Amino acid sequence: MPGRVVPTMRAMQITQLTGPASAMSLVDLPEPDLAVGHSLSPGEGVLIDVTVAGVSFPEVLQTRGEYQVRPDLPFVPGSEVAGVVRKSSPASPLKPGQRVAAFCLLGAFAEVAIAPPHLTYALSDELDDAQGAALILNYHTAHFSLVYRGGLREGETVLIHGAAGGVGTASIQVAKGLGARTIAVVSSDEKEAVARAAGADEVVRSDGAWKDEVLALGGVDMVLDPVGGDRFTDSLRSLRENGRVVVVGFTGGSIPEVKVNRLLLKNTSVIGAGWGASALFKADLIASTQAAIDKLIASGFVRPLVGAHFPLERAADALECIDSRSATGKVVLDVA
Ligand SMILES: NC(=O)c1ccc[n+]([C@@H]2O[C@H](COP(=O)([O-])OP(=O)(O)OC[C@H]3O[C@@H](n4cnc5c(N)ncnc54)[C@H](OP(=O)(O)O)[C@@H]3O)[C@@H](O)[C@H]2O)c1
Repeated sequence: MPGRVVPTMRAMQITQLTGPASAMSLVDLPEPDLAVGHSLSPGEGVLIDVTVAGVSFPEVLQTRGEYQVRPDLPFVPGSEVAGVVRKSSPASPLKPGQRVAAFCLLGAFAEVAIAPPHLTYALSDELDDAQGAALILNYHTAHFSLVYRGGLREGETVLIHGAAGGVGTASIQVAKGLGARTIAVVSSDEKEAVARAAGADEVVRSDGAWKDEVLALGGVDMVLDPVGGDRFTDSLRSLRENGRVVVVGFTGGSIPEVKVNRLLLKNTSVIGAGWGASALFKADLIASTQAAIDKLIASGFVRPLVGAHFPLERAADALECIDSRSATGKVVLDVA
């Protein structure tokens, strides 16, 4: 249309699959438009002026083309934001000017993003914008894994690997809010302090005799494992009768294999928890999970721990912080 000026925004784009340090470029792009729809149907969604974007392990993998979601190049990565509603489709009860937390799947590393209505929530006054950008992926994953998949019950004990990370700190807080006892596994003094700040009852070190320490503490009913690798067999050995290992991710790099005869010794279950794979588009499940998380925010158990902040243009440093295992809590990009 002659004379129509398309507004632009700053964004970080993955332009090549060369790893966190060099894959991304700062670019000016046309703002997303609800009428065009992007990954949603035209007219559907919530258009958000982004204040803070959350950074997660999958974006590290995406810079190498190693994540299951592989959009065509170039693309704007980032799955979650906090910000202010500019416009929303009739399917959303949210109004322009409202503070929100949203899971937008892609496109978060930008000044403007679109998110599906069922994954966009009014942000509680109890949380700041950075905590809002740390909410949906980690806390929904934690609740889905512990409760929906693992069947965690009040009074049970849960061992949480990678406990100072995003999923780990969220899982400690959700488990505590549900009346469980938590034992955190971490690799350093700094991470021990973070796990304790998240509310862990006990902390053991991944480089020590952690399995023996856990058994000395009475063993556990559940292991929540976002790390994988060679600690898996000791996770099985840490369980009590009828214990469950809930598999969430593989930050340790290798995918463990289970000798299934071990599962007979104490009636053990190994359970997969793919929030992104199975829950994301089930609007009822997402809504009931968010309602449970809102209760835990109101009762003071859920307070996302935000670690490093970087400006948008330093997204590469944010990804390297995660890739080098030095991140604690949630890493965020300050966008506005
Ligand atoms: N299943 C799902 O639906 C779902 C949803 C969200 C995330 N995830 C997955 O869950 C995993 C954790 O995500 P996150 O956001 O919590 O990550 P994160 O904040 O980076 O934390 C991961 C933790 O893993 C531990 N780790 C062990 N070996 C590592 C290594 N070689 N490199 C990096 N970290 C290592 C680190 O703790 P220590 O140093 O203390 O060992 C680190 O704190 C990722 O694989 C992610 O893709 C899965």
